[in-house]
Amino acid sequence: MSAARALKPRALGLRLRLTLSYVIFFGLLLLGLGLLFRETLQFTLHQNAADVLDEEWAAVKGYLRIERNRPIWFFDPADQEETFIVQRLRRVFLLMDKKGTVLEISPEYNDLGVESVAELRDIVTKGRPIERVRKSRKGEPYLLRTGLYTDIGRREFILSIGRSLERDEMLVHQFMQQYFSAVPILVLGIGVAGWLMAGRALSPLNAVAHAASSITGHNLSLRIPLRGAGDELDHLIERFNGMVDRLEQSFTQVRQFSIDVSHELRTPITAIRGELEVALITAQTPNQYREAIMTAMEDCDRMGKVVRALLQLSQAETGQVTLAREQVDVSAIVESVVEQFQIAAEVEGLHLKSTLEPACCVRGDRVQLERLVSNLLSNAVKYTPGGGTIDVRVSATTESVALIVADTGRGIPLEFQSKIFERFYRVPDDNRDPEKGLGLGLSFVAWIAKVHDATIDLKSAPGVGTTFTVTFPRDRGDAEAASQASDRIVA
Ligand SMILES: Nc1ncnc2c1ncn2[C@@H]1O[C@H](COP(=O)(O)OP(=O)(O)O)[C@@H](O)[C@H]1O
Ligand SMILES: [Mg+2]
Repeated sequence: MSAARALKPRALGLRLRLTLSYVIFFGLLLLGLGLLFRETLQFTLHQNAADVLDEEWAAVKGYLRIERNRPIWFFDPADQEETFIVQRLRRVFLLMDKKGTVLEISPEYNDLGVESVAELRDIVTKGRPIERVRKSRKGEPYLLRTGLYTDIGRREFILSIGRSLERDEMLVHQFMQQYFSAVPILVLGIGVAGWLMAGRALSPLNAVAHAASSITGHNLSLRIPLRGAGDELDHLIERFNGMVDRLEQSFTQVRQFSIDVSHELRTPITAIRGELEVALITAQTPNQYREAIMTAMEDCDRMGKVVRALLQLSQAETGQVTLAREQVDVSAIVESVVEQFQIAAEVEGLHLKSTLEPACCVRGDRVQLERLVSNLLSNAVKYTPGGGTIDVRVSATTESVALIVADTGRGIPLEFQSKIFERFYRVPDDNRDPEKGLGLGLSFVAWIAKVHDATIDLKSAPGVGTTFTVTFPRDRGDAEAASQASDRIVA
């Protein structure tokens, strides 16, 4: 319950963050669009005004004559349309000779101010009419077109006509005002929609969090139900359930482990107590006492062995053992370990043989690799009846080194094959030899293989025999370098 409550503010935070990012994103988008619209609108209006001025420029030539430095407008005053056109042409109008003497200027143009002599010179040299925006004294913007005008007598004058852009600017301004007053409302709408959408998107997450909070160490068998949407969240749930699976497994292992340990230690303790009790009641001679004490000591030794092995294994599995990472020749190791087991094999009446390819190198820890080989061999010797054969092979491909330990022993029934690597696990068997193992040997083998990136393959059939194959990644780079180095020394 408390866990579920603790999760709530976080989900809220995520929702708020999602909403905020929608709002910021769309806010910026709307702003950008507004500015883009404005630019486009302004550009189009300006272009339009320029086109109109172009037409008017041509029209001026149709109506204007200049005689003796005096402009004369030719049109029919009775024609309303013509009168109107000429009036419009003369509204913002300037005519000068090339020396800068004004021949005609409209009041509106006067308001704008006549161009400076430098500007005029510029225009005259360019030849082509130029266009530019100028502001009147009142701040009203005008688009002006200024250029050379040639009359019928081929004399050149300077002509400038213009158009107020006031209306265009108003239009842009109005558009902007309307658009940007709508933006906050839009953004608010987006915020609300975003908030609702984020809530919808996150609600299954809250449900999952709720389900997860009900899983504890005591009911690890619970799983979060999949929603069946096949989406990222379902994927997450699957992963989470997988994690709980693994947790459950290790919990069970730990529980089993404690049971095994207490069982393993209780037996010798009961035995010691029994022996000592019997001795106390029945023993009379020092020899009888001595015998009882010796048996008790043997049991103590066995307990000590269990505890030591357990400690080592725990240290190994929790990464407290530092491992060397040197180049090790597996064949060389196997050769020496096989030699150590020869006598034991002979005593049991077993034929122990080995086939070793030279220079099968891996990267790893020599001591641990020796332990791996000797654990596999001791099992083979222990679980193969007299007359059997133990065949040890080491071979290499370009990528890997394989160690094979095959025996013709009693074999391991299929149902136990996955369990024998667990701590203390021993295949249940009534008539097994009295010299009991600890059931820890293969746990070490599994750990050593794991830290060397090796895989273990087990093939076994009851009554036929058992074959363990451990495959290591081969360490070749240095092997070649090493052989080259030795070549050089020989040469
Ligand atoms: N070569 C083998 N042939 C038959 N059974 C084997 C062989 N190696 C291992 N086992 C089975 O796997 C069990 C676990 O092995 P291990 O961990 O080495 O424990 P231990 O040898 O102490 O019993 C053994 O008790 C035995 O039943
Ligand atoms: Mg063993």
